[in-house]
Amino acid sequence: MKGLVLAGGSGRRLRPLTHTSAKQLVPIANKPILHYVIEDLVGVGITDLGIIVGETADEIRASVGDGSRWGATVTYIEQSAPLGLAHAVREAAGFLGDDRFVMYLGDNMFEDSLEAVVDGFGDGSARVSARLLLAKVDDPGSFGVAEFGDDGSISRLVEKPDDPPSDLALVGVYLFGPEIHEAARSIEPSARGEYEITDAIQWLLDRGDTVEHRLLDGWWIDTGKKDPLLECNRLVLDDMDYGVAGDVDEASVLDGRVRVDAGAEVRNSTLHGPVVVAAGARLVDSQVGPYVSVGADCTIESAAVAHTVLMDGSRIADGACLADSVLGRHAEVSGPGSASLLLGDHSVVELGG
Ligand code: TTP
Repeated sequence: MKGLVLAGGSGRRLRPLTHTSAKQLVPIANKPILHYVIEDLVGVGITDLGIIVGETADEIRASVGDGSRWGATVTYIEQSAPLGLAHAVREAAGFLGDDRFVMYLGDNMFEDSLEAVVDGFGDGSARVSARLLLAKVDDPGSFGVAEFGDDGSISRLVEKPDDPPSDLALVGVYLFGPEIHEAARSIEPSARGEYEITDAIQWLLDRGDTVEHRLLDGWWIDTGKKDPLLECNRLVLDDMDYGVAGDVDEASVLDGRVRVDAGAEVRNSTLHGPVVVAAGARLVDSQVGPYVSVGADCTIESAAVAHTVLMDGSRIADGACLADSVLGRHAEVSGPGSASLLLGDHSVVELGG
């Protein structure tokens, strides 16, 4: 089985953060989301990976490379325009050939491994051309939603329904057989001008193919917006290894689960875990945490930060008090004052008292 990871798209919802960088590379607990996706696929033995890339192709390539660090082989597939998930499948047809594959959205994260989702797909004798992952959601009207027949199998999919037939939505992992290629070639663009994967799957259902499903157990997050991204950061920080390898002085207090990587420096500061601090970061006279990821080479000086993701090289200083924020690379915030911000790379904000 192959893996098709979608890391193209336009990332409108995380603007301004993703004007300059790929949303799949936003770090969660100091590791890019896309790396979790690759680890998940490799974890179930899927190492032949195609990565769909768009405008941010160079950054994605620089971050992932040839995949050898995970024992994977990566083929980059340039999508001519972000025209939808079924369009991505069309453009990947050459890479995928007749193999079954897992399509994984590059900005989604799951608590559980893929093991139970991929187990036995396509092994039976019946023609099963897709297996979908469904999760119970509070707002099915914002998703592709499944409708079920009397036998409990999926009978229909509806995209963003006004009157949802169930509260079970399709989430970021799809398993397909080669039948999906004919479906993806046969559909027309939707009202929003995209080749929708739900339409392609509906095409299979209409033809009489079997579409299986699995229900998700653990948490799942589409990190493409600020609040889910911070929620994901919280969930991952709650469940990771801690330890102090960096340089922490005696005037500092580490309270709860705190990771300070080698090459980071903490001076006269209080860290309320969970907190992770990457190499090259410098925390001075500050209050940090809970739920803060401090990227490489960040500076926090005479400041307070909670529930925040700081990307590499960002700086908070001079009495700034930040909560529920995401700062792009080399963004700078100085105080005095309090704020909750979503800042793109190299942004500069002076809080005015
Ligand atoms: P979406 O979140 O559905 O779309 P988007 O990236 O255009 O985001 P926004 O709505 O914020 O503008 O995409 C899910 C994932 O699939 C994401 O990682 C981007 C990727 N993708 C592609 O690779 N090609 C595409 O044509 C589309 C639509 C998305």
